[in-house]
Amino acid sequence: MSARMDSRELAERTAAPSSSEVREAAVDYMGRADMTHSEMGQRIGYGKSSVDLWIQGRYPSGTDAYIRAAIWDYMERHRLTPRASAKGRLFETENYRQIRRLFERATQHGELVLLYGPPGTQKSFTLEHLICAQNRDKKQNAVYVYASAQMRPTVLLKRIGRELGVPIGRSLREPVLNNILAALGQCERPPAIVVDEAQHLDVACLETLRELHDRSGCGLVLAGSHNLYLCFTRPERRAHLEQWLSRIDHRDQLPGLQRDELREIAAHELGNGHPAKLSEKFVNELAKQCRVEDIFSGENSRSYLSVRRLVKLLAQYKAKKEGSHGG
Ligand SMILES: Nc1ncnc2c1ncn2[C@@H]1O[C@H](COP(=O)(O)OP(=O)(O)OP(=O)(O)O)[C@@H](O)[C@H]1O
Ligand SMILES: [Mg+2]
Repeated sequence: MSARMDSRELAERTAAPSSSEVREAAVDYMGRADMTHSEMGQRIGYGKSSVDLWIQGRYPSGTDAYIRAAIWDYMERHRLTPRASAKGRLFETENYRQIRRLFERATQHGELVLLYGPPGTQKSFTLEHLICAQNRDKKQNAVYVYASAQMRPTVLLKRIGRELGVPIGRSLREPVLNNILAALGQCERPPAIVVDEAQHLDVACLETLRELHDRSGCGLVLAGSHNLYLCFTRPERRAHLEQWLSRIDHRDQLPGLQRDELREIAAHELGNGHPAKLSEKFVNELAKQCRVEDIFSGENSRSYLSVRRLVKLLAQYKAKKEGSHGG
C-alpha cells in the first residue's frame, strides 16, 4: 500500500512518550471510543494479536518503538477531546447549527463549503468539537488543518498528509500529493479536509485543494474571517479561480451570537447547577460589553455579539464571585 507510512519514518516523526504513558492513554482512548484491539490494529496496520500483546505489556522490553509510535500518532490525529485552545463546553447556538449543517454536507456528500464571519463567530471552536465528536463515533470523516499566512502549497499538502498519516518525509509536492490521493482513495468516502484561517490561502494553495477535491471526491470546508469570500472574487484573483467559484456548493456568512443565546449561556455559566436568574439590566450590560464593530461588513458597517468576549467576561464574573465567597 503506497500511502502507508514506513514504521521507522513514523517512529522518527512521532515524539511518543514512554510505553506506560502511551499504554494508559491508549486504554483510556479505546474505552472512550468503544474501540476493540482489532479495530485499533486495523487503523494502524497491525494485527489484533500485536495490539493485545502490547496492551498487556508483553512486548519484549525496548522493542515496542514502532507500535507505540503508531498508536500515539493515531490518537494524536484522531482526538476525542479538543486541544487546550478549544476546551470548554460547547453551546448549541445558531452559529453552531449552521456550521454543523455545512460540515455534514462536506463530510457526507463531498461538497465544497465556505464559512466566514467576523472574529469570534465560533468557527474554530465548533469545527474542532465536531471533528472530535466524529472521532468518538469512530467515523473519522474529517481532518483539520490550519492555514498560516503566506503558506506555500507544499506546506499545506504536508499538513494534510500529516493528518492523514501518509509519508511526507522531505518530499516534494508531487509525491506528497500522490500519497494523499492514495490515502483518500482507500476510503469508501474520503474524509473532508477542513482548512481553518482559509483567508490565508493564495491561488496556488486553493488550486491544490481543488485538485484534491476533483481527483478524490473529498469534501472541503474553508473557514475564515470575513474577507474569505473576497479572496475568491477580487478582480486580480477571480480570473484564476473561475473553476473554484463554480464548485462552491454553499457559502454561509455567520451571524455571531444572538441575544437570547447570550442570555442562556450567561445564565448557565453563572448558575449553580441551575440557570441563574439574570436581570434585564445585567443582560443589557453584558450585551453592551460583548458588542464588537464588524469593520468588514461593507458600507453599512454593523456590529455583532462576540462569543469570545462573552466567554472571557463570564470567566471574570465567576472569578470575582468565587473570590468574594472565598474572602
Ligand atoms: N458554541 C460555543 N460554545 C461555547 N463557547 C464557544 C462557542 N463558540 C466559541 N466559543 C468560545 O469563543 C471563543 C472564540 O471562538 P472561536 O475561536 O471559534 O472563534 P472564530 O470564529 O474561530 O474566531 P477567529 O475568526 O478570530 O478565528 C472560543 O475559544 C470559545 O471559548
Ligand atoms: Mg478561528
